[in-house]
Amino acid sequence: MKKLITFLICIVVAVSRLATAATFTVDAGHPAGKASPTLYGLMTEEINHSYDGGLYAELIQNRAFLDNATTPVHWSVLDDNGSAATITLDTTNSFNDKLTMSLRLTATKAAKGQPAGVANSGYWGIPVQPNTRYRATILARADASFSGPVTVSIVSDDGQTIYASQKFSGLTANWKKFEATLKTGKVTPTAAAHFQITLDQPGTVWFGLVSLFPPTWNNQPNGFRKDLMQMLVDLNPKFLRFPGGNYVEGDTIETRFDWKKTIGPIEDRHGHPCPWGYRSSDGMGLLEFLKWCEDMKAEPLLAVYAGYSLKGMHVNPGPDLEPFVQDALDEIEYITGDTNTRWGAERAKDGHPAPFTLHYVEIGNEDWFDKSGSYDARFTQFFDAIKAKYPRLKLISTIGNDQPENKRVHSLKPDMTDEHYYRSVDTFLQMSPAYAQKYDRSGPEIFVGEWAAYETSFPPWDRQSKNEPPTPNMKAAIGDGVFLAAMERNSDLIKMQCYAPLLVNVNPGARQWRPDLIGYDAISAYGSPSYYAIRMFSRNLGDEILSTAPLETSVQGSATRDSQTGEIFLKLVNPEATTEPLKIEINGVASLASKGNAITLNGNLEDSNSLDHPRNLVPVTTTLRGVKPSFTYKMPPHSIVVLKLKTR
Ligand code: AHR
Repeated sequence: MKKLITFLICIVVAVSRLATAATFTVDAGHPAGKASPTLYGLMTEEINHSYDGGLYAELIQNRAFLDNATTPVHWSVLDDNGSAATITLDTTNSFNDKLTMSLRLTATKAAKGQPAGVANSGYWGIPVQPNTRYRATILARADASFSGPVTVSIVSDDGQTIYASQKFSGLTANWKKFEATLKTGKVTPTAAAHFQITLDQPGTVWFGLVSLFPPTWNNQPNGFRKDLMQMLVDLNPKFLRFPGGNYVEGDTIETRFDWKKTIGPIEDRHGHPCPWGYRSSDGMGLLEFLKWCEDMKAEPLLAVYAGYSLKGMHVNPGPDLEPFVQDALDEIEYITGDTNTRWGAERAKDGHPAPFTLHYVEIGNEDWFDKSGSYDARFTQFFDAIKAKYPRLKLISTIGNDQPENKRVHSLKPDMTDEHYYRSVDTFLQMSPAYAQKYDRSGPEIFVGEWAAYETSFPPWDRQSKNEPPTPNMKAAIGDGVFLAAMERNSDLIKMQCYAPLLVNVNPGARQWRPDLIGYDAISAYGSPSYYAIRMFSRNLGDEILSTAPLETSVQGSATRDSQTGEIFLKLVNPEATTEPLKIEINGVASLASKGNAITLNGNLEDSNSLDHPRNLVPVTTTLRGVKPSFTYKMPPHSIVVLKLKTR
């Protein structure tokens, strides 16, 4: 009897909820505007070992021995079999004026069967994959009595298994480049391995650079990690904002992203300290960023250094700023110039004769932090010089509507402004329904160049963040989802947006910021629920914005239509712990196919993905039946849903 009563109560509750279902009204008769085709993009900089120890596939950490001036960090002496070797940093035997340090290895007691040498621990391990070719490149010289052989190997950390090994000889007192291919056999993937270089007779060898690459995306030399590239391509990005972020600014003017020092062969790249507390090899240089864009079929959104660095240093507008303006002009020429131009020819020399397409240049980063108030004049100086040579480029001011009016640029009208939003989930839930509605539609256009919802009670820059997982949970994805829907509704004005940060190496000590979209260690990677939410949104976007009436529930959403195919994409986000029945009314369509698709991401708020559970929360596609101009759809608890409706 009790069971029957409970059952009846449930039915009554369900029926009454359906009767009071909120209505999501979509006006398909009169598109409200053009949805920006460039809305979905990526933001990137060297943070959290995004490049070194991340996307940039180099496996040797501290490959040029410059990471620490006094200690060869990440390198250690191999003392197997009691053989004696020493290693020291040497500034007096450098390969060239860029690689100003070498590592001197002296083996005193080495013998056949009793090698002595040095090991590199990689970026939290060397990833060993089965049947894989690794390319080692080594710059070396030796004392007069030693010509080789030198053995390079990938070895398990317990020393028991040699996964791959090669020898090279012919060392002389002059620097030479040696290359070797190391091939693994049938092995179980592991990152509990290191790279080692050994001698089996006494001698002294200097190394100027030691590099090891696994197979890369499209087999590009000096290229990118394949699994991460696949995840990025899957996001269907239309642009890539680089190289920052704080990374473009540097802590000091000296340590800014000085693009001219990041091009050419890797042996010509000295690297530089990055503002996130470690040294960048500059292996990921300007040309690599551009190739990365090319590989993703995305456009570059180039951030140029604009005379402000994070420790509060600024360059005075006027003659002092001129060299920096010229640097930006040269950078644009390197990217877009034909091979008859000075910098276009340099790009061709670096291996890419074809110019790249460039439409967007951002002048600096977060210049509201510049207390001198010089941004207006600095921006204007860059703007005038760039427009004089490249009138069609869209120039972006780094101070947008999220900053006080008096901080923004007033001397002229930027083509676009960049707004940054790191906000709590609750803040996004509150601000998203009205977001951007009051903005002046006559421009400047808006680029939301950094944003992310955090699920913690403290912001990302709080020390407590260190104790939280690197990637966000389902609750954060809900906050991200409502903000994405808001940006889509306003994408006549919000032309571009990108979540930040994009990448995080999840090893202890590797990260500086959370939450981040994609996590990885040396061997595997996973997407956070926010990654999947963005992927669902970016792969299902029409070119027309359809206006939607605000819902009377906490569900938030957006609607777009593909004007070619007529397909309608509804994005809906339910922050509630209960199923939310929605009456969906599509006005202005003759008829809809009765079958559509629903892509659903849902879970408990605290649920997330991790290296151990990479697919705990992933979107699921199902067939949606009974679609008509007015139909009921039940939003699962804590869900993000894309409904794909075909017009007939
Ligand atoms: O995304 C992390 C940092 O946040 C960026 O480098 C900076 O632009 C912002 O303050």
